[in-house]
Amino acid sequence: MPFTEPQTIRLKETDSTNREAFRIMEHTALAEGTVIIAAHQYSGRGQGKTIWESAPGMNLTFSLILRPVFLPPADQFLLNQTIALGLRVGLTSLVANSGITIKWPNDIYYKKGKISGTLIENRIMGNQFEVSVVGIGINVNQAEFSSDVPNPVSLKNITGRVYDLNDTLEIIIESIMNWYNKLFTGKHEEIQESYQEHLLGFGQQLKYLAGEETFSGTIRGLDEYGRLIIERESGRLQAFDIKEVRLLL
Ligand code: BTN
Repeated sequence: MPFTEPQTIRLKETDSTNREAFRIMEHTALAEGTVIIAAHQYSGRGQGKTIWESAPGMNLTFSLILRPVFLPPADQFLLNQTIALGLRVGLTSLVANSGITIKWPNDIYYKKGKISGTLIENRIMGNQFEVSVVGIGINVNQAEFSSDVPNPVSLKNITGRVYDLNDTLEIIIESIMNWYNKLFTGKHEEIQESYQEHLLGFGQQLKYLAGEETFSGTIRGLDEYGRLIIERESGRLQAFDIKEVRLLL
């Protein structure tokens, strides 16, 4: 097992736990499994140029340090899939509901709402991972969000319950660790199959936006780089990179 007893660094506030992780690593080595968590993250980073909004003390905003030195950097999408699966299973157990899906590449959705977002930042040296900072934001007890946030949903919105943040973190980390061990032991097919099984829109005809164009298409799978393969109504298969296409819900 790559890690068993993760160490947790708790911060009252920080701009971004991912940034904080990289700042700490400028002077102190962080072991695999370390979690850096902030009660208040006031300048959370999302994918691309987006921001991650989270009300103080209501949600989970944390970064998990991984060192997947056993994985060729070319296979890094497998790490994305592993994290998404760990989150999906953990979140499913927390809401006791099977309707939790993965929205490509690694968002976790309940129906049309986004429960969690992940920003993975890798540092690669030569042909090996040095560190992977896995930044995760989960909407837990926040019931209302600003209008700028696209379709958010929290665990509380789903079940009506108020969640203990420490217990929730523990369940999520344990689930991620379980899937990370599968990655470590080379269970790549299981990871790829489970990811596809729980992928939102897989095999269904839905609407997508690519640049200015809206089109109907069906997700048929992923290529080896993790690009989404969509079949157009014409039957043509097209591979899309992150940010090149958006599923319209
Ligand atoms: C996204 O869906 O756009 C990704 C959101 C990632 C947010 C998390 S919260 C903890 C970590 N620190 C950050 O600044 N971002 C990630």
